[in-house]
Amino acid sequence: MCGIFAYLNFLTPKTRKEILDYLLNGLQRLEYRGYDSAGLSIDRHLNNGVMLFKKQGKVAALKAALIDYLEDGCEGSYEDILNCHVGIAHTRWATHGPPNEINSHPQRSDPENNFLVVHNGIITNYQDIKKYLEIHGHRFESETDTEVVAKLAAHIYSQNKELTFRQVVELTCQQLEGAFALVFKSRYFPGECVASRRGSPLLVGIKTKLRLAVNHVPVFYSKDTKSRRGMEQNTLRRETSTEFTPLGEDHSTEYFFSSDASAVVEHTNRVIYLEDDDVAAIHNGNLSIHRISRSMDIESPDWREISTTKLEIQQIMKGEYSSFMLKEIFEQPESVVNTMRGRVNFKNETVVLGGIKDFIPDIRRCRRMLLIGCGTSYHTALATRQLLEELTELPVMVDLASDFLDRKTPIFRDDVCFFISQSGETADTLAALRYCKSKGSLNLGITNTVGSSISRETDCGVHINAGPEIGVASTKGYTSQVVSLVMFALIMSEDRLSLQPRRSEIISGLENLSEHIKQVLQQDTIISKLAEELFQKRSLLVMGRGYGYATCLEGALKIKELTYMHSEGILAGELKHGPLALVDEMLPIISIITRSPVYDKCMNAILQVTARGGKPILICEEGDTSTEELVPGSTYIHVPHTVDCLQGILTIIPMQMLAYHMALLKGCNVDCPRNLAKSVTVE
Ligand code: UD1
Ligand code: BG6
Repeated sequence: MCGIFAYLNFLTPKTRKEILDYLLNGLQRLEYRGYDSAGLSIDRHLNNGVMLFKKQGKVAALKAALIDYLEDGCEGSYEDILNCHVGIAHTRWATHGPPNEINSHPQRSDPENNFLVVHNGIITNYQDIKKYLEIHGHRFESETDTEVVAKLAAHIYSQNKELTFRQVVELTCQQLEGAFALVFKSRYFPGECVASRRGSPLLVGIKTKLRLAVNHVPVFYSKDTKSRRGMEQNTLRRETSTEFTPLGEDHSTEYFFSSDASAVVEHTNRVIYLEDDDVAAIHNGNLSIHRISRSMDIESPDWREISTTKLEIQQIMKGEYSSFMLKEIFEQPESVVNTMRGRVNFKNETVVLGGIKDFIPDIRRCRRMLLIGCGTSYHTALATRQLLEELTELPVMVDLASDFLDRKTPIFRDDVCFFISQSGETADTLAALRYCKSKGSLNLGITNTVGSSISRETDCGVHINAGPEIGVASTKGYTSQVVSLVMFALIMSEDRLSLQPRRSEIISGLENLSEHIKQVLQQDTIISKLAEELFQKRSLLVMGRGYGYATCLEGALKIKELTYMHSEGILAGELKHGPLALVDEMLPIISIITRSPVYDKCMNAILQVTARGGKPILICEEGDTSTEELVPGSTYIHVPHTVDCLQGILTIIPMQMLAYHMALLKGCNVDCPRNLAKSVTVE
């Protein structure tokens, strides 16, 4: 999905080249989110002008084109020093209009680039605004919804030249409906930058040479007559917010705006997560945060905390791996341990989830639980439903967020709803959460991203602590989500005497999980050979049942996401009701068969396949000789034996590796599959 990165250096001299490197590097950090064009805007050399540069395709293409353009010197030298400057940049994932230069961001108000804006999200009333602006003589060049924002800002300013940049943006945003994160630059306000958000994430990073003396920025309410504070006191001013060395004051400050902390962490770990309808303005090097009025945001505090993000740059680098996906697959022995760290006590067999422990009595009283997510996160819901039903004895519904919303599913105050989302920003999941909030249920988040919208808007939840996941296809995010919900199920059953033996076997399974994953990863050579046999096939089925079913759906999703090959996960119990018609000697079928109560039923389905000439590839357990005797001559991928509810974590890993190897053989981009985005922030 789209990504925003903006950089403002105040009294911090930087060459034009350094500024461009910051912007391009910021965009590269956002690449993992998925995009199809990129653009940026910096100041021109002469006449207070503003330059706009956009390109279809990758950030590397934008960079190459920029170098060509700037090297002729007409925009000034690369080495020109800019003491105070604003650059805004964007990666676009096309929604309104195809990916091309005109539709890319920044979008502009007019050919003079008087107002420029980068936007994540969707403006739902853009047609109405467009009509209004056209009546007032504005001509549109792009097919985007975003262009109305730049033009509306210019229109508002043309009506009243006394307005400050911040007021222009405030008035503009008041007219917008939909979801947005916006960062503005204007030729009229050099060295100033204004940003706002509603529904899409946006943060401000702050870098000063001196330590900040405050850990919050007060909020200024434009229409708040009761406000005791004046605007002057409501800015992050260096005089009041930094400590000074005896040698004197240092006013230099750098600000970063981004939709994603991963683009900012290499510069600073001091960030402010903006709230919906905040307008953050930097004027004269001071940051201030404004809201229209207090009445609109009863729950919102009067300040924004400057938090210290713990994201480390090494965590988002590829290291020795050729791709993020490969790195993330191989990180799973550690990421599952990180998910359990400080939470599972293997000796005493106790589990504590700090984020939800105070809510456990309420959860125990609920009438049913709903697990809601999209894509891989939905498969997490499927993978854990059976255990939750068993250990809580409550009805558990699983839902795809989009369908849940389409159905306007009835929700009651005594429901507990889980919103599962690696990114914590997926638009459908977030919309489902807001719907449930309006119905009064207790809402829990299972997210990997601290500070994400879902993490902040849920009543409580669990951070899965898997570390940043950059590859678009989720791998370690999935296994850590499953572990999180297994831990939750263990907490829910801790008082039940009859369930203690079951809890013990699961906790012991969790203790050995990391070691078991390492053993699965050792099968890489066998799996890469299998990939060579499969990568040119037209279609691939993945079949299983019970705890294996989620692996089928998730495994098939991995194959189709990464290799663009048709792939389908089927429930073995449904084989006779349709998929059997597809079976012949040619169609590859992967079967998940592990020792569990549904073993015999899985074997029946496999035998029905072999009876029709099919040659299933089996993901089975080490030492399981009976399967090899019943289905001789197949390809077998062995995973260690573990407790049934954790088996899905071990069986999905060969599927992740298979999809990875097949994608490599097909020459596909494993980190950024075509047409897909890591963080789907539009419905
Ligand atoms: C927290 C700290 C962790 C520290 C530990 C020590 C954070 C982010 N985590 O972890 O660094 O080592 O205490 O006691 O500061 N939440 C939601 N929705 C979600 C996810 C989380 O509301 O989707 C809330 C939780 O209810 C909780 C907070 O966010 O209030 C932190 O959650 P989590 O990180 O899971 O808590 P701990 O494991 O206790
Ligand atoms: C996108 C990603 O489709 O969103 C998937 O490409 C992911 O990998 C899905 O499973 C849901 O994302 P999240 O962040 O809500 O778990």
